[in-house]
Amino acid sequence: MAGRVTTLTFRERKRAGEKIAVLTAYDYPTAKLVDESAVDAILVGDSLGMAIMGYKDTLQVTMDDMVHHTGMVSRAAERALVIADMPFLSYQVNAEEALRNAGRLVGQAGAHAVKLEGSAEKFGESIRTILRAGIPVMGHIGLTPQSVHQFGGYRVQGRDAESRARLKKEAAGLQEIGCFSIVLECVPADLAGEISESLSIPTIGIGAGPECDGQVLVLHDILGWGENRFSKTYADVRSEMAQAFEAYAREVKQCTFPEEAHSYPTSAQKAG
Ligand code: KIV
Repeated sequence: MAGRVTTLTFRERKRAGEKIAVLTAYDYPTAKLVDESAVDAILVGDSLGMAIMGYKDTLQVTMDDMVHHTGMVSRAAERALVIADMPFLSYQVNAEEALRNAGRLVGQAGAHAVKLEGSAEKFGESIRTILRAGIPVMGHIGLTPQSVHQFGGYRVQGRDAESRARLKKEAAGLQEIGCFSIVLECVPADLAGEISESLSIPTIGIGAGPECDGQVLVLHDILGWGENRFSKTYADVRSEMAQAFEAYAREVKQCTFPEEAHSYPTSAQKAG
């Protein structure tokens, strides 16, 4: 098995011009499979609110949810870097709470790094305090889903000159404060390219085109559960599962399952 991917590996990859693959996962068996693949890092995203909890956005996801799911993932990951999302209001209130919450994700749940949404201008104090405690921080700008109501929906960011300039400034600010990497979500590809080019830390894009230093996708989207324009269905696991459920129910009702092979032998069969 190759050695553990670390935040230093991220920087080395950028320097070497090698792309970084990040995928979300939220539970032990799935994270184990992802860890056995060539994916470099597993993001325990607060997207779990929609992907597996049935919420319509990420705002209801709590610290306890994140600790619970990050624990499952980090117990499975022997090679990949595990990055845990800081959920809504876990870092926005003040730096002390931010550090306590980041500390839970690392100390209690076993993450190697945390990710939080927004600029250094807004959350610099929290980011600095987390970094000072030795916890690597990944930034996240562009479409930041925890601010969905402020954006008025899930809209592409950085379309006009003013917001392009703001995003470039935010990216530079996050690098300067010490983030090891930045997620760029839903921004035009040319802007993501310019930002990536201007930074020494890697950008990880989602809906941000091919010029980012790496890509991140939501696992359920690549398995046929989601309908995001920027995602791609690599396997239609959803249909496979639906067919399996149908077949199982049919066989139970038709009394064709279980067969002898699925049953323990009777005492008479065992004796004979
Ligand atoms: O929560 C998440 O999965 C994320 C990615 C979409 C970047 O933040």
